[in-house]
Amino acid sequence: MSQAYREDLAYIHNAGFGHFARAAAGLLLRELCRIHVSCGLVVDLACGSGMLAKQVSEAGFGVFGIDISPAMIALAKKQAPRATFRNESLFHAELPPCVAVTAVGECFNFLFDKTHSKAALAKVLRRIYKALALGGILLFDIATPGRVPEGVRRLHVEGDDWAVFVTATENRRRRLLTRKITSFVKVGDLYRRDYEQHRLQLLTAATVDKELRDIGFLVRRLNRYEKLRFPPGYVGFLARK
Ligand SMILES: C[S@@+](CC[C@H](N)C(=O)[O-])C[C@H]1O[C@@H](n2cnc3c(N)ncnc32)[C@H](O)[C@@H]1O
Repeated sequence: MSQAYREDLAYIHNAGFGHFARAAAGLLLRELCRIHVSCGLVVDLACGSGMLAKQVSEAGFGVFGIDISPAMIALAKKQAPRATFRNESLFHAELPPCVAVTAVGECFNFLFDKTHSKAALAKVLRRIYKALALGGILLFDIATPGRVPEGVRRLHVEGDDWAVFVTATENRRRRLLTRKITSFVKVGDLYRRDYEQHRLQLLTAATVDKELRDIGFLVRRLNRYEKLRFPPGYVGFLARK
């Protein structure tokens, strides 16, 4: 299983980077209400620490979350006790019948699973279509070329008991985004240091859009979840079966 999003980075993601999951959960619940769906199962692919799962299960839906990181799954189980979770790659997971599927936070871009490929992604999208009820919703976002317009970006974010330093580099020719992440988490009186390197395959919105339409989805592109506007190189999709 993947060595990414180990204990400290999973903690930091949960403590400081929940705005996308929470805004996406709000949008999903609003859309489900609009189409008069008030119960059923929501499958959250790459569910992370369970922030979306918590909101959606508290609204009365069943939630089944899948994530490749054992540390994220451990947090999710605590955060959303009514939901069920499985530690596996979304590229291999069997999907149960459901009313909605979410994949929030560039989940289809990460190269943690070595079997990641365009064909593997197309297969997942087809599996999602099959699992969804007629009228069901697929909500997700992707990182596209131009995610780091300046080529290299350095970022520093901190909370009360953690800090993270990220150097993101975009290789335009290979459509590859690399994030070198150094994290510090307070343990007792000291700070524990860890390092992770994440690689993401950038996907073009046009390719994903066409793939979805070829499968049979009705597709709407998004530039925001609720009030949360996406940064450059970030595209959302709200697709319906
Ligand atoms: C940026 S986080 C987003 C987490 C969560 N969806 C959220 O919005 O808070 C990306 C997540 O994708 C997961 N992930 C990446 N590749 C995956 C894969 N192939 N299968 C399952 N999970 C994956 C990571 O472990 C991580 O939890």
